[in-house]
Amino acid sequence: MSFVSEKSKKLPHSVIREMFALQGELEDVVSFALGEPDFPPPKHVVDAVMDSFQRGETHYTPNAGIPALRLAVAESYQNRGLQYDSDEILIGAGAISVLCLACMAILDAGDEVLLPDPGWANYKGLILQVGAVPVPVKIYEENQFMYDVEDLRKAITSKTKVILLNSPSNPTGSVASAENLRKIAELAKEKDLYILTDEIYHALLWDDEPYCSIAAFPGMKERTVIVDGFSKKYAMTGFRLGYGAAPKEVILTMTKLLENVLSSVNEGMQWGGVAALKGNQDEVEQMKAHYKSRRELMVNGLNAIEKISCLPPKGAFYAFANISKTGLSAREFALRLLHEKHTVVVPGVGFGEGGEGYIRLSYATDERTIREGLKRIGEFTASL
Ligand SMILES: Cc1ncc(COP(=O)(O)O)c(C=O)c1O
Repeated sequence: MSFVSEKSKKLPHSVIREMFALQGELEDVVSFALGEPDFPPPKHVVDAVMDSFQRGETHYTPNAGIPALRLAVAESYQNRGLQYDSDEILIGAGAISVLCLACMAILDAGDEVLLPDPGWANYKGLILQVGAVPVPVKIYEENQFMYDVEDLRKAITSKTKVILLNSPSNPTGSVASAENLRKIAELAKEKDLYILTDEIYHALLWDDEPYCSIAAFPGMKERTVIVDGFSKKYAMTGFRLGYGAAPKEVILTMTKLLENVLSSVNEGMQWGGVAALKGNQDEVEQMKAHYKSRRELMVNGLNAIEKISCLPPKGAFYAFANISKTGLSAREFALRLLHEKHTVVVPGVGFGEGGEGYIRLSYATDERTIREGLKRIGEFTASL
């Protein structure tokens, strides 16, 4: 009998971490690997955390989070036209913990979850971890990397329980249109399916259209779990603060499960979350302006390189570039670029089979790095 479980042995390894480990052996490296804002969080957020600790708030909090933060999150949804009350909100340690609790709360062993391919690699592990079955559904560049609703329909079996959405998307930067979401909502209602929607990049949108959540469509709030957090919008990755919004029954179940995993989230960080949501948003706007101009630089630069093309991402801070004309596989491209030009990109296959022929580049990095990396990628492709 092996010490570690068979279930955990099956969990996939992260290709991003693999690339990261390889880069450690090289010098003068330019990296586009990590999807982490390179800005500090707003100052008033850090002050709120410090003040909380100074007030002696160093104890357990209610399992689902402090009332002030649950209310602030509910109000932030109300401001976006989604009617959530405090008791339909749960505070977790980063969006990833909320995704994990949501999977535990809604999935039984053998339940199938439709998920985008390419899609954020952690989804597979999160689903497998609870004994459920990830069913990748390919999304294509020709369809702006949105689900084709007919492909979703074909993938549905008697065991399908959940459709997982991630818009704006990591790795593709795609944003599902309101019409696309409406069709998915209709399908979910027709087939009696639930929706798990990861909206962690909801604030990072580069077109003028307002954000649209599938939960806003008639009859959808009651079959949707929204997962979100502070890491990307407020550059608060290290705070480990996220939240979920769902019908009360699901939130109560997730709260019961959270007690067994976290008890509660660190109180000081939760006050940082209140300050982030209710405080001045100028710094968020400044970060967004930077991402937007970096996006232009990155996308224009990639499209100027022969044999590479890149759809302008509509959200998040990733460019998903098509490298199929180079004749190299995504993995070969990424490994050779790393060794020959000391430049790190993530091969699209790290996000599923549908990522073959693509590389992901994070532009949550400064313009000098982007220019230098583009120069190296141009030299590399010219040498092929
Ligand atoms: C699509 C997606 N969901 C969730 C997360 C996790 O965010 P958090 O830091 O809040 O756990 C990430 C982080 O990279 C992500 O890209």
